[in-house]
Amino acid sequence: MNVLLIGSGGREHALAWKISQSPLLEKFYAVPGNPGIAEFAECVTDFSAEDNSAVVQFAQEKNINLVVVGPEAPLVNGLVDTLDAAGIKAFGPKKDAAQIEGSKIFAKNLMKKYDIPTAKFEVFDNPDAAKNYIRSEGAPIVIKADGLAAGKGVIVAQNLEEALAAVDEMKNFGAAGNKIVVEEFMDGEEASILAFTDGKTIVPMIAAQDHKRLNNSDEGVNTGGMGAYAPAPVVTAEIAKLAEEKILKPIIAALNAEKIIYRGCLYAGLMIVDGEPKVVEFNARFGDPETQVVLPLLEGDLLEIMDACAQGTLADKKISWSSESAVCVVLASGGYPKAYKKNLPIDGIKKARTLGALVFHAGTKISDGKILTSGGRVLGVTFVAPDIKQAIHKVYKCVDVIHFDDMHYREDIAAKSFKHNF
Ligand code: AMP
Ligand code: GLY
Repeated sequence: MNVLLIGSGGREHALAWKISQSPLLEKFYAVPGNPGIAEFAECVTDFSAEDNSAVVQFAQEKNINLVVVGPEAPLVNGLVDTLDAAGIKAFGPKKDAAQIEGSKIFAKNLMKKYDIPTAKFEVFDNPDAAKNYIRSEGAPIVIKADGLAAGKGVIVAQNLEEALAAVDEMKNFGAAGNKIVVEEFMDGEEASILAFTDGKTIVPMIAAQDHKRLNNSDEGVNTGGMGAYAPAPVVTAEIAKLAEEKILKPIIAALNAEKIIYRGCLYAGLMIVDGEPKVVEFNARFGDPETQVVLPLLEGDLLEIMDACAQGTLADKKISWSSESAVCVVLASGGYPKAYKKNLPIDGIKKARTLGALVFHAGTKISDGKILTSGGRVLGVTFVAPDIKQAIHKVYKCVDVIHFDDMHYREDIAAKSFKHNF
């Protein structure tokens, strides 16, 4: 199979690494890719991944059999619809299905209509009405912009003052903030369950846990994710079963009832409240950095599974998981998620790999043969070991040999796992 991968982050590097192991793979391209992905695929940067017709034209020229779409923006912008119209298969949902991430109101209304457990909510397009509702509900309370806001459109307000100010801040998210969702605060522990689906069958992957806050002990601002580990013991076998029966299968049935076929990876962000999983959000794609710990534990051929999702034959596939544990520590530029320096030389990637780490590029570039920083999240260092304790120990040994100026990372990735007996 000839494969085209869309995206340039750590998630896409992990996808490229796993896809490259498939015996089915022939030619492999990425748009735009990154220096890590370039180890496996030819990276093409002469057109934008946001230009749907340019992607289709390229896929036709190169006889691409499957396009794998990493990030949400091209999904929400209808890339898969354009590919489908040209008869090109893709792993990733079409625009109507990608609304599950692209519009919080769409996702919340769908869950409400089909009785899928999530936080109680109300939708407002009038700020004063939203404020009145917030005053009647009290804090803590959660305020969300409807549309995609680069992961920044959610404010968890601890008190009334913050909550009322959050309503005014929604204006900063442009069209995404025209409508807002005000949601009940759920008090629990978060986990991510990613799932493969072909629109009929849904197969959950091993549960992972992200670390969204910038600093140790979940302090500091929210980020795209500072590290992850899998499996996440907060998702016991019982909770995994509940998630499958009460959330994953019902959401696919709900979409079908609305005449929407969802194909690709469906990401359920969950809050485990008193032993019950509830949906915080759905994403229409793999998680980043969850992918960097989930895929290293997948046994078998990712490309074969993705192709089955695109073809509607997932029920025939057996998907199995390693019994090991994986931890990924994100190395970020100092200052991220606000302003940070770029073009700083990175040392030690090779050394970390010789120690056994998988080093995924997220925000790097290559200049005169030297790897430089070019983004907020720069690298994801993953280690797979027989248990979580060894994986943590070893991943930090590998982090120790990597250096760039102002490098920032959390020192407590996966420490939360020890709260649970397993
Ligand atoms: P989202 O973009 O919807 O994933 O929200 C970002 C983060 O805000 C989540 O990962 C949670 O930590 C937090 N959050 C969102 N909704 C809620 C909620 N209803 N209750 C508690 N925390 C929430
Ligand atoms: N790690 C969170 C996300 O991918 O949305």
